[in-house]
Amino acid sequence: MRTTLKIVLPLIVSVGSVSLLFAGYQMRNQRRILRNDLARRAEILADSLQESVERLLDRGQERNLQRLVERYGQRERIKGIAIYDAAGHTLAITPGLEPALPLHPTAETNAMRENRAVGEFLRPEETSTPQESDAVPEHLYALPLHRDDKVGGALVLIHDASYIERQVALTLRDALLNALVQTLLISALALFLVRWTYTEPLTRIAKWVRTLRTGQPNPLPAMVQGEIMEQLHHEVTHLARDLHSARAAAEVEARLRDSNASLWTAERLRVSLRDRLQDQPLFVVSNREPYMHVFEGSGKTIRMIVPASGVVTALEPVLLACNGTWVANGSGSADRETVDIFDRLRVPPDRPSYTLRRVWLTEEEDKGYYDGFSNEGLWPLCHVAHTRPIFRPEDWLQYQRINQRFADTVLQEMADVDSPILLAQDYHLALVPRMVKEVRPDARVAIFWHIPWPNAEVFGICPWQRELIEGLLGADLMGFHIQTHCNNFLETVDRALEALTEWDRFAVSRQGHVTRVRPYPISVASPENPIPDVDSADPAALRAALCNEMGIEATHLGVGVDRVDYTKGILERLRALERFFELSPAYQQRFTFVQIGAPSRTDIERYKNFLDEVTSEAERINARFQTSRWKPIVFRKKHHSHEEISRFYRAASLCMVTSLHDGMNLVAKEFVASREDERGVLILSTFAGAAHELTDALLVNPYDIAQLARAIHRALEMPEQEQAERMQRMRHTVRQHNVYRWAAHLLSDLTEIRIELVERAEA
Ligand code: G6P
Repeated sequence: MRTTLKIVLPLIVSVGSVSLLFAGYQMRNQRRILRNDLARRAEILADSLQESVERLLDRGQERNLQRLVERYGQRERIKGIAIYDAAGHTLAITPGLEPALPLHPTAETNAMRENRAVGEFLRPEETSTPQESDAVPEHLYALPLHRDDKVGGALVLIHDASYIERQVALTLRDALLNALVQTLLISALALFLVRWTYTEPLTRIAKWVRTLRTGQPNPLPAMVQGEIMEQLHHEVTHLARDLHSARAAAEVEARLRDSNASLWTAERLRVSLRDRLQDQPLFVVSNREPYMHVFEGSGKTIRMIVPASGVVTALEPVLLACNGTWVANGSGSADRETVDIFDRLRVPPDRPSYTLRRVWLTEEEDKGYYDGFSNEGLWPLCHVAHTRPIFRPEDWLQYQRINQRFADTVLQEMADVDSPILLAQDYHLALVPRMVKEVRPDARVAIFWHIPWPNAEVFGICPWQRELIEGLLGADLMGFHIQTHCNNFLETVDRALEALTEWDRFAVSRQGHVTRVRPYPISVASPENPIPDVDSADPAALRAALCNEMGIEATHLGVGVDRVDYTKGILERLRALERFFELSPAYQQRFTFVQIGAPSRTDIERYKNFLDEVTSEAERINARFQTSRWKPIVFRKKHHSHEEISRFYRAASLCMVTSLHDGMNLVAKEFVASREDERGVLILSTFAGAAHELTDALLVNPYDIAQLARAIHRALEMPEQEQAERMQRMRHTVRQHNVYRWAAHLLSDLTEIRIELVERAEA
């Protein structure tokens, strides 16, 4: 109330003062106009009487003069008329005027003496005698009369001027009323606006923050639009989210202490890394950046997107847990607009926690290094998905040049840091470990290979296998998802190089440098850290809402989430769905499979063709079965945010991951992590690294279409009890083997190597 008064009171005072000043001005103005008007009327009347009076005076007809005076004296607002001779004796006068008039001889004598008309207003005290208590203001007008060209008397007109003050008083009353109404109206309006725009939303926020503080879940109240309120809304939402995460983390920590379990959390990773890194920043280098800015529409607005990439999904929680710098390729169309002069920016945008340093590539460089060598060469080589790898010498040249550029940028970023720690990522940057290590032997370098490593014969196809392996062996630690990939790597090294492969401790010694090779199964954040801001409706309500949005009717949904890549087994999946609908027609018009497919690497012919192939296969199958209100397959061919994907995960009866070969596949783990309701079935390819951990999924060979079709049927028919048991065990695995554990193990092994190196140097 006090705040409202503070705003409204000055408003009342200022509006009131302005209105009063204006009323005073109006009053004075009107008085002036009315007085002028009366003076002019007196003048006109006197002028019109002058001639007749002078004629009667000439003739000495005083009786007629008296008659004239009486006649005119009755006119409106005239109080009286008097005629004097040159000596000042009254010749004629309106009856009843005599007692008052002689008291005011000034006008009449002045008029005669100066031979000119004289007009004046008299205040009541000047007109009243002791007997005239009801005296009123008057106007007196005296005009000299002439006889034989000399002043021979005077004509005096007296007007009642009291009506002027009456009218002025009326005007004053109206103006004051007007001012009062205006002040009240403006104040009420201001009061309403202040309450509507500020007081009430702020009170609602305060109430909401209070319920939040006391731990009661409560959706954020709706806000009035407006810049300040939107900012506040934005900040408060983030605050709430942070509070929510902090509480969830504290709860998990408490449970952890209680159960004495070895669960890794963001908080535990932060504390552990702080101890191990001694507040040193962590450096990460990858091709794909975690935040990409792109121009939208006419190019005036910039949109931020989180790319669909396993690397990003895994590393973001690690960087959030410890401050650091992530060096990556700035591949978004608006990326250059959003960095500072050092090509850096703090991310995530809503909670800046670490630095993203962008590296720029020309189209030609990108074509050779990324499209060519990385994705037409190494990607099919390592995935063994029956797409022939293409190795062009010019692509290899670009690959080496760009690896050097990434290495130089990393070296620049770590220039001021002693014994820095670098986590290099993936097959795009195989040469970086050696390039960095040559300049900074004090750096601790690990590289994590996110895709499979094939057997030695297959890898031997690559004309530059030796250079690639030498590049990788620059690292102190090399990580793969599973033990099989570690074994394959050691065998490849054995065959390709003169190096000592130590199978007993899984290491390679070469020219006095040791590279350890270890499996670190990558993962997602814990199920306890669900994606914020997702629709919290229950699965059935979510399914109904999604069906409605997609314009279909279905009682069961299935989901697949992939970059549209030929290694993901999307075509096999679609064909299995076709077979399933043939074998189980009862599920037609009841079950719809939603394939979320982010178009990927579309500059590469094979990917472009694959996208077309998936599109037409989905259309072909739909054409066979669809009705006006139902479709067997909905192919959503675009990038989806984590929040959007999460809605499908939680509404689906089953999720299909049918990779023909995959390092880990985080979709499988994301699906499990998002099923808080412990329902839903995961169908998982045995050729994905995730199959080693998620053994409670329905494990399938994606090349066996009939087996896949049976798995779909089994998933849809699975009793709730069995779903729950399987999901509980898988959630337990994901909870235990989360991404914080992945990062903690990788970084703890790396920091231990540092101690060995120091010891060796001292020895
Ligand atoms: C998948 C692989 C990652 C790889 C990424 C590249 O997620 O698991 O190892 O880095 O694809 O995707 P991109 O869109 O960057 O080519």
